Amino acid sequence: MLKLYWFAIQVYIAIVTKIAFYDSKGYDRRVFEALEVAHTGTSRSTELEWRYYDFRLSVQTASTAQGAEAVCVFVNDKLDRPCIEKIRNLGIRLVTLRCAGFNNVDLQAAGDFKLSVVRVPAYSPHAVAEHAVGIYLALNRKIHRAYNRVRELNFSLNGLVGHDVAGKTVGIIGTGKIGRIAAQIFHGFDTRVIAYDPAPDPAWAAGHGIKYARLDDLLRESDIISLHVPLTRETRYLLDADAISKMKNRVFIINTSRGKLIHTTALIEALKTGRIGGVALDVYEEEEGVFFEDHSDEVIMDDVLARLLTFPNVIITSHQAFLTEEALTEIARVTRENLVNFATGRPFLPGTTLA
Ligand code: NAI
Repeated sequence: MLKLYWFAIQVYIAIVTKIAFYDSKGYDRRVFEALEVAHTGTSRSTELEWRYYDFRLSVQTASTAQGAEAVCVFVNDKLDRPCIEKIRNLGIRLVTLRCAGFNNVDLQAAGDFKLSVVRVPAYSPHAVAEHAVGIYLALNRKIHRAYNRVRELNFSLNGLVGHDVAGKTVGIIGTGKIGRIAAQIFHGFDTRVIAYDPAPDPAWAAGHGIKYARLDDLLRESDIISLHVPLTRETRYLLDADAISKMKNRVFIINTSRGKLIHTTALIEALKTGRIGGVALDVYEEEEGVFFEDHSDEVIMDDVLARLLTFPNVIITSHQAFLTEEALTEIARVTRENLVNFATGRPFLPGTTLA
């Protein structure tokens, strides 16, 4: 009997899985902790022990993963080859990404070091698509400027003229989970929606009154262009000076995907000449180290970002398109389930494995 009891204790100790959680924010912790509380006592065999760090994982901080079996990271943690080698040597066997994009992880290195990598492929495509349309509408109708004016009792309308969205041509680049929803929302505004994707889905397009086009045609014909593609070697600087030169005069560009899809200095040059009507960004190519943090009492050192912020027709949010209760809950659910599967030797959830 005593032996059995001792065996049970050993099993219990052995299957507590420790996770080092990087770049944690209050809202992450609240949702992950609530989920853990909800599972407490439901099954001893899936005990997870979270160690929350507010700094990011990189080769410089990797030693803090010591003692954990898994790391849980977000978009700006830097898992390059040296970092992966280091955490692997510390005994890390799993990387769980709390996001869909994975351009910050060297998957080749993860494979070489036999490190599993999982992500949350779709937590709320609606959240991101709605934010893309939201920042475009705010920019077009100058709602952010009007809000500030009215709070100072300035009720003048000068400088607040926008455009009807109805009747415009909207170009959606990338018709995956998010791009499709953005396309459908824009279509609801009585616009003509055209799309480009190297892997098109003609049945979906036909069902929603959307037409696929060649990329060059989309760039030439669109009044509003919204990016919904992953950052890869092929899509890096998809919108460069050449692409921008093909666009309509006074085009509006929306980017909620990844900053490096746009060549920012080329964008600034076009903004300076007045060729671009407006730019709505939730991402920026050098956002790492700037976005997600409060720098309001510091000198801004990034001259490109500083210049971008001076344009009256540019609106920037700090990579918050995903930030809804529904999305956070789904991120926590998928991440936790994959960790439980990892701890109990079960396969990861379908579609989440990257390496
Ligand atoms: P997805 O994988 O469902 O769709 C991506 C689509 O892009 C696919 O249909 C693919 O064929 C297409 N594509 C690939 N290369 C292309 C190219 N060169 N030109 C045109 N299309 C191309 O991805 P999902 O879920 O729609 O996400 C899109 C991106 O949104 C993610 O990669 C991520 O970077 C970004 N994202 C941003 C968030 C935020 O908070 N701002 C949150 C979540 C995702």
